[in-house]
Amino acid sequence: MSSENLPQSPERAESPEQQRRKPRVAVVFGGRSSEHGISVVTAGAVLKAIDRTVYDVLPIGITTDGRWALTADEPERMAITDRRTPDVGRLVESEDGTVALSVDPASREVLYSEPGAVPKALGGVDVVFPVLHGPYGEDGTLQGLLELSGVPYVGAGVLASAVGQDKEYMKRVFRSFGLPVGPYLVVRPREWDRDPAAVRERIVDFAGEHGWPLFVKPARGGSSVGITKVDGLAGLDEAIEEARRHDPKFLVESLLRGREIECGVLEFADGPRASVPAEIPPVTAHEFYDFEAKYIDSAPGLVPAPLTEEQTAEVQRLAVAAFEAVSCEGLVRADFFLTEDGDFVINEINTLPGFTPISMYPRMWQESGVDYPELVDRLIQAALNRTTGLR
Ligand SMILES: Nc1ncnc2c1ncn2[C@@H]1O[C@H](COP(=O)(O)OP(=O)(O)O)[C@@H](O)[C@H]1O
Ligand SMILES: [Mg+2]
Repeated sequence: MSSENLPQSPERAESPEQQRRKPRVAVVFGGRSSEHGISVVTAGAVLKAIDRTVYDVLPIGITTDGRWALTADEPERMAITDRRTPDVGRLVESEDGTVALSVDPASREVLYSEPGAVPKALGGVDVVFPVLHGPYGEDGTLQGLLELSGVPYVGAGVLASAVGQDKEYMKRVFRSFGLPVGPYLVVRPREWDRDPAAVRERIVDFAGEHGWPLFVKPARGGSSVGITKVDGLAGLDEAIEEARRHDPKFLVESLLRGREIECGVLEFADGPRASVPAEIPPVTAHEFYDFEAKYIDSAPGLVPAPLTEEQTAEVQRLAVAAFEAVSCEGLVRADFFLTEDGDFVINEINTLPGFTPISMYPRMWQESGVDYPELVDRLIQAALNRTTGLR
């Protein structure tokens, strides 16, 4: 394809000169993680919400095998159909064309290449909106590339993204900042490879102390992929195998009985603020809040969560504290359990939380007075006002 075929905004009343002056937002989505499909759905909603009179938009899809490609700017093709999530492979404009962001921070150029052809410059990008979940997107790797490129981007930086993606380090950071964390143990790849029997014994001891059931999770997963609730020793090996299919490092946690409460944090000019919290109702059709429950059978969360004023204030305080503990930027969704004893325990943060208009994060902000297009705009504006590098 040629640069003339680049996706452009629908209304073209202004001259190309005027168009160029709009900040150019590259929406990067898809990617190599198991959350590819959800990322595409989210990107569709973001593309639809971005005000084209204010921004010029360049959609860049990353295929499941990691190729960056120009995709059609057609949000309507990016929705869930027949209980199936969309795929970047079906949206790409050319089978073998690739796009790349120059790592020369002076240029901020996007380059388009096809095999055997001279790469073409597609112009500069002012800001990247990484709409990517999980590894190679939400975990600091993409953020590192953007730092090298000198292009500011929406959301957490390298360190916060990496910590937010790794359930071990996330808990360690939370704990060191005095945030309440539930009982867990971590199994590193070398430990398991060296002596799986000793690891099993350690887990059985842990269960002896905290009781079954246990949750076995990949350390760097997301969207409940690879997580198993284990009722007893008989199911343990299968659960470990399942977690390790997604990540050689895994965590074992005791079951936290209680309610699941989430809270959004958004960065305003005067600092991070918490949204009204939401409650994820207990799932009945599913074992727990798993992938199907989250996205396919989308259990409607309660916004705002039916909490007392004190509880609301407490969870909002903890959510902002989690944002600060990990040095997040832009946005975070902090997820808690409200235990039967009435205490909040933090489960995790998501630095790029589910972001379709029906996802919890946008719904919590909607209820707090920030609608979806404003949310998208605030995030882009916050990123445009930032620089890369130490900040
Ligand atoms: N320790 C736990 N006790 C009770 N439920 C849990 C526990 N850990 C996870 N869950 C359930 O599994 C879901 C997914 O786990 P989570 O740690 O949030 O992983 P992910 O990063 O995949 O979202 C949670 O929303 C919750 O419903
Ligand atoms: Mg979660």
